[in-house]
Amino acid sequence: MQGHGRCLKLFLAFALLSLQYAQGGEVDHSQRDTNVTKRCIEKERQALLAFKHGLLVDDYNLLSSWSSEAQKQDCCRWIGVSCSNQTGHVIGLDLSYKVIGEDYYLQDIIGSLSNLRYLDLSWTYFGGKFPSHVGNLTNLAYLDLSANRFTNVENLDWLPLLSSLRYLDLSFANLSNVFDWPEAINKLPKLTNLTLLDCDLPPPILSTLSYINSSKSLVSVWLPFNRLNTSSIFLWLSNYNTSLVDLVLSYTTLAGSIPDVLGNMSSLAHIDLSSNHLEGWDPHSFARLCSLQSLDLSSNILSGQLFKFVQILFSTCAQNSLEELFLYENDLAGFFTSSYTPFIFGTLIS
Ligand SMILES: *[C@@H]1O[C@H](CO)[C@@H](O)[C@H](O)[C@H]1NC(C)=O
Ligand SMILES: *[C@@H]1O[C@H](CO)[C@@H](O)[C@H](O)[C@H]1NC(C)=O
Ligand SMILES: *[C@@H]1O[C@H](CO)[C@@H](O)[C@H](O)[C@H]1NC(C)=O
Ligand SMILES: *[C@@H]1O[C@H](CO)[C@@H](O)[C@H](O)[C@H]1NC(C)=O
Ligand SMILES: *[C@@H]1O[C@H](CO)[C@@H](O)[C@H](O)[C@H]1NC(C)=O
Ligand SMILES: *[C@@H]1O[C@H](CO)[C@@H](O)[C@H](O)[C@H]1NC(C)=O
Ligand SMILES: *[C@@H]1O[C@H](CO)[C@@H](O)[C@H](O)[C@H]1NC(C)=O
Ligand SMILES: *[C@@H]1O[C@H](CO)[C@@H](O)[C@H](O)[C@H]1NC(C)=O
Ligand SMILES: *[C@@H]1O[C@H](CO)[C@@H](O)[C@H](O)[C@H]1NC(C)=O
Repeated sequence: MQGHGRCLKLFLAFALLSLQYAQGGEVDHSQRDTNVTKRCIEKERQALLAFKHGLLVDDYNLLSSWSSEAQKQDCCRWIGVSCSNQTGHVIGLDLSYKVIGEDYYLQDIIGSLSNLRYLDLSWTYFGGKFPSHVGNLTNLAYLDLSANRFTNVENLDWLPLLSSLRYLDLSFANLSNVFDWPEAINKLPKLTNLTLLDCDLPPPILSTLSYINSSKSLVSVWLPFNRLNTSSIFLWLSNYNTSLVDLVLSYTTLAGSIPDVLGNMSSLAHIDLSSNHLEGWDPHSFARLCSLQSLDLSSNILSGQLFKFVQILFSTCAQNSLEELFLYENDLAGFFTSSYTPFIFGTLIS
């Protein structure tokens, strides 16, 4: 993670300039205005106040609403906090870009906000031990802990406890020791969006890939900037051969040929395999990708006749959906002149 430090700081400098406000209003403000005594649950309010003390930087006073002053008692109206309008429990906490939490352990707040469904602590610069006790937040549907400075993630044993999880982003966390990450993901029956950008992921080990109980729900998989293995990653992804729409595997050291199994994932609309070492591709194998809208194979070492590739691809049913094709920086012969493109593409970006 140290290597990301400078990046993070730069990014935060910009990010803090844009004040982002709380996530979706689950709270009925008009109703509360007519009843000033209604406020959030005291235990949760205290937990949030205690948590605030662990936030080192709040330069833009975004947390000034988090206060024990009389008129600010209702924590459901605090910036970044949202409550259930039925139970009054805090169900959403969104501090993304809003604060910087230096090496603060999240233990207390996680223990106290057990009803959380939405937790976004991305770009908050938290350090210290990775908070694997988020596994206790079993109502979570959305979890974004990306872009912090946690120490290496020891394991993902806590992840399958989050059986309601739909969205997971752990980008920039160091998962280099978590060899069974594909299995942990497979055990989340409702997960639709997975983002693990630059996590130092170890390649999936074929023998540990289990298909039996796997979730079939993944729609979006973003794993750029990891060191993956072509055969094992596609074998794992074939679990999701009926659900996957977005697939981003750029900068993942993929080598060899683009596996035919990709062509069986018929729901795919966006494929990004750019900036790898892929050298072979049979466009015939894409014959069933009838929803394909964008295909990025740029910056690989594909060889052959560009015209042939394009001709074959546009004889498949992708011809009706394809809007963007990126093939630049390959070893393809006969690169297009722009005058060809209107006859063959709606849009060609090359
Ligand atoms: C992740 O942790 C491993 C083991 O501690 C280390 O070798 C590796 O450099 C780390 N990766 C990054 C991107 O910091
Ligand atoms: C205001 O809220 C309190 C506590 O929830 C409740 O007992 C009371 O009936 C409410 N009053 C009105 C006018 O809604
Ligand atoms: C909040 O209350 C309104 C009506 O008072 C209801 O329609 C809405 O579904 C509730 N939202 C949640 C998240 O419970
Ligand atoms: C859940 O919380 C308990 C008590 O705070 C703790 O002992 C346990 O390790 C936590 N579970 C996970 C998965 O972190
Ligand atoms: C699949 O689920 C069943 C019951 O939930 C369990 O007994 C079995 O060990 C699981 N298999 C794998 C490979 O995880
Ligand atoms: C999940 O992925 C789908 C498909 O790429 C996308 O449309 C949707 O916006 C994503 N959801 C979130 C919360 O980012
Ligand atoms: C990729 O994984 C397969 C199966 O586990 C293995 O045989 C192969 O050597 C691996 N390739 C690389 C480049 O690590
Ligand atoms: C693709 O799907 C077809 C039909 O379902 C099947 O016969 C073939 O073995 C599959 N290919 C791969 C590489 O999974
Ligand atoms: C999808 O994968 C399953 C096994 O994971 C396989 O049985 C099925 O034939 C595949 N479907 C296609 C269209 O490839």
